[in-house]
Amino acid sequence: MTYDFDTVIDRRGTNSQKWLKYAGRDVLPLWVADMDFRAPPEVVAALQAHLDHGVFGYAQPLPSTIEAVLAALHARHGWKIDPAWLVWLPGLVVGLNVTVRAFVQPGEAVLCNTPVYPPFMTAPAHQGRSVTTVPLALDTAARRWEIDWEALESAVRPQTRLFFLCNPHNPIARVFCRDELARLAEFCLRHHLLLCSDEIHCDLILDQLPHVPTGTLGGEIARHTITLIAPSKTYNLPGLGTSLAIIPDPELRTRFVRASNGIVAEVNCLGYTACEAAYRHGEPWREALLAYLRGNRDFLLDHVERELPGLRVEAPIEATYLAWINIAALGLKDPVVYFEHHGVGLSDGRHFGANSGAYLRLNFGCPRATLAEALVRMKRAVAAVGPRRD
Ligand SMILES: Cc1ncc(COP(=O)(O)O)c(C=O)c1O
Repeated sequence: MTYDFDTVIDRRGTNSQKWLKYAGRDVLPLWVADMDFRAPPEVVAALQAHLDHGVFGYAQPLPSTIEAVLAALHARHGWKIDPAWLVWLPGLVVGLNVTVRAFVQPGEAVLCNTPVYPPFMTAPAHQGRSVTTVPLALDTAARRWEIDWEALESAVRPQTRLFFLCNPHNPIARVFCRDELARLAEFCLRHHLLLCSDEIHCDLILDQLPHVPTGTLGGEIARHTITLIAPSKTYNLPGLGTSLAIIPDPELRTRFVRASNGIVAEVNCLGYTACEAAYRHGEPWREALLAYLRGNRDFLLDHVERELPGLRVEAPIEATYLAWINIAALGLKDPVVYFEHHGVGLSDGRHFGANSGAYLRLNFGCPRATLAEALVRMKRAVAAVGPRRD
């Protein structure tokens, strides 16, 4: 079966956060991380059958839904999971917040690398806990973002309780390798830190790189790890609010569930339906999506290199549909507003912990024609900045 990622679907007037932000303006939204593609046809069909039935009562994860999730994790990442380890959540960010609430006491702190997906920093703040951020280091010769181990060691305090990992990483789009993850596990165990591993992008790896779930590293670390996953990014279902925490240790799991009791909503019935159909039937669609995203990534990188002086993607985009673009050379005070003014809506690097005016994040999960039009507009925008200042 072939899948159509090329047709531009009009999302205006469909209650899309991504498009509503610029309602009434000619701005192409390439910001928040959802894609402008229809979900896999099998998912749409399963939801349609549910809609035709017309009853939307409380639901629960069926054995067949659990089986579909476990089979996909095993087939793709070699991870054998006991169904008892699963805790269903109405969103992955909920999982970040519950983890902080359950395991970090007031006065204690969360540690994470930056740049990073903003809720890694806002979750501790929401729960009244503090966060210590350590910048990732860019090895410009190797064109690779690295964990700065020395800086990480010196950032740990007696009150540090938890490390938030994003793998594959949003926004730098790296897939951390086994050695780095093993070193991180050793670091967490030595400092008695719980490891919370957000692996929401694990099925969106564009290069031939294995995703190593932190929970498969062996030894002690699985008993100190909470892994968060979801079908939402891969199959473009984020509005259906269906995510999972995988917690092998029963005591951690009990504490996690206790911290969410009464305040975290159950997953909705349509979310379960979509989740099962996606994991059970969505593999051909996912493979086609990855091929399309690879094409978009290469198109984007080529364009940045040849047509957008002053913009740099400093390291390969190994995973996700997000590009982290250094725009410091343009010397813009407010780059988001500047590019919006030229018809493209991007994410501000500052929200990810970058310096003001230094980075933008671009979402290339859209038809090639939309990306091409955005790049034409960005070229015009760059030309209007004037001579380069780097
Ligand atoms: C790393 C990461 N975690 C979590 C989320 C969002 O998860 P949810 O919508 O399930 O809260 C995103 C969305 O972009 C993400 O990139």
